[in-house]
Amino acid sequence: MKRIGLLTSGGDASGMNAAIRAVTRTAASMGIVTIGFQHGYDGLVTNTWTELNARAVSGILELGGTMLKSARSELFRTPEGRRQAALVVQQNQLDGMIIIGGNGSQTGGYLLGQLSVPVAGVASTIDNDLYGFDYTIGFDTAVNVAIDAIDRIRDAAESHDRVFVVEVMGRDNGAIALEAAIATGADIVLTPELPFSIPELITHLRNDVMAQKKHHIIVMAEGAGHAEELARYINANLPVECRATVLGYVQRGGSPTRFDRILASTSGEAAVVALTEGRSSVVAGTRDGHIVLQDTLEAVTRRNLLKPELVELLRRVSI
Ligand code: F6P
Repeated sequence: MKRIGLLTSGGDASGMNAAIRAVTRTAASMGIVTIGFQHGYDGLVTNTWTELNARAVSGILELGGTMLKSARSELFRTPEGRRQAALVVQQNQLDGMIIIGGNGSQTGGYLLGQLSVPVAGVASTIDNDLYGFDYTIGFDTAVNVAIDAIDRIRDAAESHDRVFVVEVMGRDNGAIALEAAIATGADIVLTPELPFSIPELITHLRNDVMAQKKHHIIVMAEGAGHAEELARYINANLPVECRATVLGYVQRGGSPTRFDRILASTSGEAAVVALTEGRSSVVAGTRDGHIVLQDTLEAVTRRNLLKPELVELLRRVSI
């Protein structure tokens, strides 16, 4: 193996740069050249890249975002775009591709693999929505950002006896919401996975207000609804003051935590080693605390469920 291609795709996640560094340097240590495509699959389709060497990835481990830039590529969604991408791999004499990203990005990697390109993924998304992994790169940093914000919001909730609805990221799942809720002692979590009814929520809050629990924190995943709408509804139906805060992109950026740096470094290394050992259509990440190679198709098609023990824990301790 002499040359590999690398790209970051989908939503950026803290730790992507650490993964880029690990891939490039692991490859360099084995005498393999890495070329980094810009703007995700767009760069692959349009053949836009720069050669990376050990020095080119100095000083990025601690930085958020991705030095290769990222995109959700429309070009690559078409069969012609994917055929063009496979041609670019051939033209550049690449022996394989490494894709750093989440569910959509690894689905792209699987489709590229179907065109005879060896592909290894690195599980990276704040949403933690790839099946078969404990955590994906960026999730830990995102949850820590949410925790810090909710701790601060709690000051206002307590001082003013207010109810707060805090909306966190998670288009299709509530992993960030659930862990942030447990770690901040929030009262209620609303996620796309766990069914809830607004009238029951109002009754629950009304009972608590009457029981003198005057301030509440509700953590809501964006996939479960809109914080502003829920806050308006609560204000209209209960004798409380309710405010909404949407955390948004603040969760995706910033310096990665120790956990994400180590995870990104070990997963990046494992992806390169996987390609050199002839593995393809696998995604590197962590399961039960160990680095594993997960079958890509399974990773993107099976649902990563909320951890039931955490759901039960929140139910018990949020009384
Ligand atoms: O990276 C995943 C995610 O953060 C989702 O939770 C969110 O819905 C989405 O990205 C939004 O990202 P963008 O606006 O960049 O498409």
